[in-house]
Amino acid sequence: MSDDFAKLRKALAGKFIVFDGPDGSGKTTMLSAVAEQLNGFGSADIICVREPGGTQYGEHIRNVLLHTRTAGEGLDETSEMLLFLAARMQLMSKVVIPALKANKTVFADRFVSSTLAYQGEGLGIDYQKIVDIHKIAIPDEYWPACTLILDVCDKVAADRMAETGTVSDRIESRDDDFRRKVRLGYLKQAAIYPEHTQLVDANSSPEEVCDACILAMQNHLL
Ligand code: TYD
Repeated sequence: MSDDFAKLRKALAGKFIVFDGPDGSGKTTMLSAVAEQLNGFGSADIICVREPGGTQYGEHIRNVLLHTRTAGEGLDETSEMLLFLAARMQLMSKVVIPALKANKTVFADRFVSSTLAYQGEGLGIDYQKIVDIHKIAIPDEYWPACTLILDVCDKVAADRMAETGTVSDRIESRDDDFRRKVRLGYLKQAAIYPEHTQLVDANSSPEEVCDACILAMQNHLL
């Protein structure tokens, strides 16, 4: 094992790392690939979670958010944001915080960064309001050590979603304008919160993006 890899594994103990990006950015594949690489050098004690969901109550909330469509009444934007927060807190209290307390590494597929991009930039809810309400809910010591934001151009994202035959959920079926805002929301976060985020170019091959994710974590944590 290279020295850098050994150092990274050590630095990751008890740390919370988020993989995020627009639909089609490949963040879910990358999260697994990076976890596999790190685990390949012996058990690195990495717990992988995804949002919304990952707990029994969280999966019920996921179903409301992604798969429940009503005939007349739309879901209010603040209600949507708070439901994501509710699912997130259930996951934090039942899975993430206990794992971090046990000095394990947690890799999360989406987190507050998704809410800022989709409900903040996408639906127009003020970023600071989203951050403030999360600050009330999540104790300071359990915020992510690093959020990797995987950026892809619109065409690559659309091609990847078509390739995997993704069936659009309630949020993914919003229009191109919403999708453009979401990508912008992620890029903005990388600019506004450089101390918490690492922007990764995710347009290239899976192997190259995986290496770029590992390098970004090394840059951030070592
Ligand atoms: P999911 O099946 O996890 O999508 P993906 O596999 O692309 O990650 O569905 C999550 C959807 O919910 C996705 O379209 C993004 C959206 N979402 C928000 O709008 N806000 C949030 O805070 C989170 C966590 C997800």
